[in-house]
Amino acid sequence: MRVYRKNQRGYYSYGIYHYLAFWIVIFLGIFLLSTYVRDILKLDVVKDVEAVSLMSALFLGIIEIIKILVYPIKNKGLFKYFYSLSLERRIRKAFLNTMTLNIVKDLPRIEVPKIKVTFNDEKIYVFVQRLAGMNDLEKIQANINSAVVGKYRNFAVVELIQADDGTSFSFILEDLGTDKTFIPHTVDDLKQDPYFIELQENLTLNLSKYPHVAIWGQTGSGKTTVLMSVIAQCLSNNTELYFVDGKTEFSSFSVFYPKEKIATDNIEVVSLLKHISEIIMKRQKQMASAVQKRKELGLTGFDIKLKPIVVVADEVGSIVASMSSKEKKELVNNLLQIVQKGRSVSVFLVMASQSPATTVLPSDIRSQFSTRILLGSATGDTQRMAFDQVATTGGVAKFQGYYMTSGLTVQPQKFFVPNLYEHDLASMQIFERLYNEKE
Ligand SMILES: Nc1ncnc2c1ncn2[C@@H]1O[C@H](COP(=O)(O)OP(=O)(O)OP(=O)(O)O)[C@@H](O)[C@H]1O
Ligand SMILES: [Mg+2]
Repeated sequence: MRVYRKNQRGYYSYGIYHYLAFWIVIFLGIFLLSTYVRDILKLDVVKDVEAVSLMSALFLGIIEIIKILVYPIKNKGLFKYFYSLSLERRIRKAFLNTMTLNIVKDLPRIEVPKIKVTFNDEKIYVFVQRLAGMNDLEKIQANINSAVVGKYRNFAVVELIQADDGTSFSFILEDLGTDKTFIPHTVDDLKQDPYFIELQENLTLNLSKYPHVAIWGQTGSGKTTVLMSVIAQCLSNNTELYFVDGKTEFSSFSVFYPKEKIATDNIEVVSLLKHISEIIMKRQKQMASAVQKRKELGLTGFDIKLKPIVVVADEVGSIVASMSSKEKKELVNNLLQIVQKGRSVSVFLVMASQSPATTVLPSDIRSQFSTRILLGSATGDTQRMAFDQVATTGGVAKFQGYYMTSGLTVQPQKFFVPNLYEHDLASMQIFERLYNEKE
C-alpha cells in the first residue's frame, strides 16, 4: 500500500523519499559538499562525513544495480522489466485519478494499493492488493486496460482471480487485438497429431482433455470452414471420421472416403449415430478390462492410445427441423451418449448449428461441449445461451466470434475462423491428399 498525500497545489503525490535514487542523490550531494567544505575550511572532522556519505551512496547504488540486474531475469528481459515498472506506475496513476475523482471529502491522504506486474507465457499478470472499499471490479479492470499502452496495447484483462482470503486480486491480460487466424500455407501445415486440433494460433485443443466442440453462427459466418479445418487435420492423422451432414456439403468426401461413414438423410443420420453409440459401449468394455489390467482408475482412451473417433456434424438445426419427433428423440439420445460418455473412450463430437437455442438441442447436450464457439454478431440472449454470459455488446467482424473452453477460459475470448482459402487449401484434392498421406 502506498500513501499519497495532498501537496500545496492540491495534487496527491507520493513522497519522493520512498525511492532509492532520491537517497543516492542526497548522499552524493553530502559527499560533494563535504569534499568542498574540507578543501576550503581544511576541517578534518568533515572527513568522516565524507566517508560515510560516499559509502552510503555506493551501498544504495549497488542495491539499485542488483535490483536492475535481477528483476529482468525474473521478468524475462530488460524491456519487459522496464515495461512492467511503467505499467505499474500507470495503473497506480489510473487508480489515483479515479479515487481522487470519487472522493467528495477533502482528504489529506489517499491509500493506493500495492501493484505488481509480471510477465509469463505471453501473458501479463497484474497483482493488486485489495484495500477496503475496492469493490467495483469493473472499474479496476477498466483502469488496468486503459493503462496498457505501447507494445502491449492489444492486451486486455481476460481473467480475474481473487485470493481466497480476499486480500488481493490477480488480473491476467492477454493479447486480444492481434489477429490469431490459423492460416495454413501448405498441406503440411494442416497435419496434426492424433487427438489434437488447431482452431487458431493460440488455441490447439487436446480433445481427450477438452472434448466436443460446438460452433454456432448465422449463415455465412464460417461454421463449415471451421469444420473443414478440423476434418483436414483429422484426415492427416488417421482419426476415424464420421460425417453428419444437413446440407450435403460433405457428400463429396465419398470420392475417397468410405460412404457408410457419411450420413445425409434422416434415416442415415439416425443409424450412423446409433452405430457410434454401439462403438462407445464396446469401447467402454475395452476400457474396463484395461483398467483392471493396469489397476489405474480414471484411465481414458487417450492413455491406452485408442484411435480417436470424431463425429463431424454440420447444420444440426436443419436436420432436427426435418425430423419426425421419433427420429428427433433418437438423435438427441444418441448425441447425449456421445457427449456424456465419449471423452473416456475417445469419441468426440464437433458440431455446427445456426442457433444454440434449446429448440434445436436440449441444454444438457449443450452444456457438455468443452469448447463453445459463437461466430458473428449475436443478441445478448444468444450469447447467454452459448456462454452463460454476454461476450460483447458491440458488433463482431466477419469470420470472427468468441469462444470459451471449460477449464481454459473464464470469460469469452476472441475467435478467428481458420482461413483455408488464402493458400487454396479448401479443395477436395487437398483433403484427399491428406487422407492418402496419413500416418
Ligand atoms: N477465415 C476466412 N477468411 C476468408 N473467407 C472466409 C473465411 N471463412 C470463411 N470464408 C468464406 O465465407 C464463406 C462462407 O463460410 P462457411 O461456409 O464456412 O459459412 P457457414 O457458417 O457454414 O455458412 P452456412 O450457414 O451458409 O453454411 C466461405 O465459402 C468462404 O468463402
Ligand atoms: Mg455451412
